[in-house]
Amino acid sequence: MARVLLVDNEASILSVLSTLLKSEGFEVLSIRDCEKAVNIIKTEQFDMMILDIRMTPIDGMELLKIARAQQPEASIIMLTAYGSIETAIEAMKLGAFDYVTKPFKVDELLLTVHRALDYRKALTENINLKAEIKTKYRLENIVAESPSMKNICEMIERVAPSDTTVIIFGESGTGKELVAKAFHMYSSRKNAKFLAVNCAALPEPLLESEMFGHMKGAFTGASCNKKGLFEAAEGGTIFLDEIGAMPLSIQGKLLRVLQEKEIRRVGGTENIKVNARVLAATNVNLEEAIKTGTFREDLYYRLSVIPITIEPLRNRPEDIIPLAQHILRQEIGPNREMPRLDMDVRELLQKHQWQGNVRELENAMKHAITFMAGNVITRAVLPQKLLTALGESQASRNTDDDINEFRNKSLKTFLEQKEKEYMEAVIEAVGGDKEKAAHALKISLATLYRKLPKETKTEGNHQKAETGTATTEES
Ligand SMILES: Nc1ncnc2c1ncn2[C@@H]1O[C@H](COP(=O)(O)OP(=O)(O)OP(=O)(O)O)[C@@H](O)[C@H]1O
Ligand SMILES: [Mg+2]
Repeated sequence: MARVLLVDNEASILSVLSTLLKSEGFEVLSIRDCEKAVNIIKTEQFDMMILDIRMTPIDGMELLKIARAQQPEASIIMLTAYGSIETAIEAMKLGAFDYVTKPFKVDELLLTVHRALDYRKALTENINLKAEIKTKYRLENIVAESPSMKNICEMIERVAPSDTTVIIFGESGTGKELVAKAFHMYSSRKNAKFLAVNCAALPEPLLESEMFGHMKGAFTGASCNKKGLFEAAEGGTIFLDEIGAMPLSIQGKLLRVLQEKEIRRVGGTENIKVNARVLAATNVNLEEAIKTGTFREDLYYRLSVIPITIEPLRNRPEDIIPLAQHILRQEIGPNREMPRLDMDVRELLQKHQWQGNVRELENAMKHAITFMAGNVITRAVLPQKLLTALGESQASRNTDDDINEFRNKSLKTFLEQKEKEYMEAVIEAVGGDKEKAAHALKISLATLYRKLPKETKTEGNHQKAETGTATTEES
C-alpha cells in the first residue's frame, strides 16, 4: 500500500483529499502545520507527497526542496491556485512530478496521483536494476552496443509497461520512431494500435482534425463525422512525431487532453473519454523553442516525464559496425550468406561523421549490396558521396598537417617537397622503372635524377643532401 503525505494549511482541502485517497486504498497522513511536516519528512518515508504551494510559515516550494533532498525517490505533486502556473512550473523544475490546480476535479487528481506512482515505480525499478550486474540488453530489432543505447533499452523495458508519457530527442535518422515503437511493443498495449502523426507534415486545421477528429459540416469538406487518432488508438499508443512543429493552438488543446484524458472533436460539443498513451519525438531543441515562444513550457513539462535522448551515431562508434551488419542481414534475408565488410571499409565507416545517422548508414549498406561482387563489401562499392565526404575531410587534414609542417619555411622548400613526393609516387606506380617514370612525368631521365632526393640516387650521400636542402631554405 502506498504511503502518502498531505500538507496544506486548509483543513477542508486536507479532509477532502484524505477521504479520497483513503478510499483509493492509500495510507494517508495529513498535516496542517508546515514545521511539523518538515520533521515528519525527515523521519518518515513516503511514496508520494502532495504539498500546497502557498503555505505559511514555510511555503510549499521550501518544503518541496526539503522533501527532494530528504526523499529523492518520492513523487511530489504540488497544489496550486488557479493562475499561478509560473510557480507550478518552477516547482517542476525543482523536481516536483506534476501540479494540480485548485479547485481540482477528483478524476484529474486521481489520474495524476496514479501517474506519479507509476513513475516512481519505474524509477525505483530502474535504480535497482542499475545496481544489479549489467546483463546484455537485446530488444528485438534494436542494435545497442554503446552504453547510451544500452541505457535506452533498459529504459524501454522498465518504463514501457507503465502509461508514462515519454519524449524522445534525437537528430534526424537516429531511431526515434524505432524506439517509440519499442515502447509500444513492450507495453500491455502492444495488441492495440500504434498510430503516428507527423506534426510537421500537416497544416494546422488538418492536424487538429487528424488528432481529435471532426463532426460533419465542421469545415468545408467535412462530409461526415470522423474519429481522430486519439479515439482510433483506443487502448493503444499515439506517437506525436516532430512535436516541435506543432502549432501553439494545438499544443494548448493537447495539454488539456493529457490532463483530462478527454477530447472534443472539431465542431463537436461533447467531450469524449480517450485512453491512449502518448509518446512524442523531436529533433529540435524544445528548451530553445520555449525561449522563442514557439513551444509551451507547461506542455514541455507534461510531456517530458521520461525524456530519452538518442545520441548521434558519430558519438557512439561502438554501434556502427554492429548496425551495418544488422542492416546487411535484414537486406539479404535469413538464407543468404552474410556479406563481409572489408577492413578498409570498417575503418571508413568508423571515421565517417554520419550526419544522416542510422538512416544514412542504411542507405550506404543498401548501395553496397547492390554493387558488391563476391560477397565482400569493398571501398569501391560504397556510395561516392560517402567517399567524397571522407576524402574532403582527409584533404583538409592534410592541408592542416602541411601547414604545420611547413610553417615558417619558404615556398620553394614546400614545392620541392611536393615535387619529390609526386615523383616517388610515379616511380612506384611504374614499378620502379625510372625511365618509364621520366616518360610519364614528361621530363628527361637526367632531370629526374637531378630532382630526385639524393639518398634515392646514391646511398651514403645522405648527410650532404640534407645540408643542401638547408642551404636552399635560407635563400
Ligand atoms: N539502434 C538501431 N538498431 C536498429 N535499427 C536502427 C537503430 N536506430 C535506427 N535504426 C533504423 O534506422 C532507420 C531510421 O530510424 P527512425 O526512422 O526510427 O529514425 P528517426 O529518428 O525517427 O528519423 P527522422 O528524424 O528522420 O524521422 C530505421 O529504419 C530504423 O529501423
Ligand atoms: Mg522519425
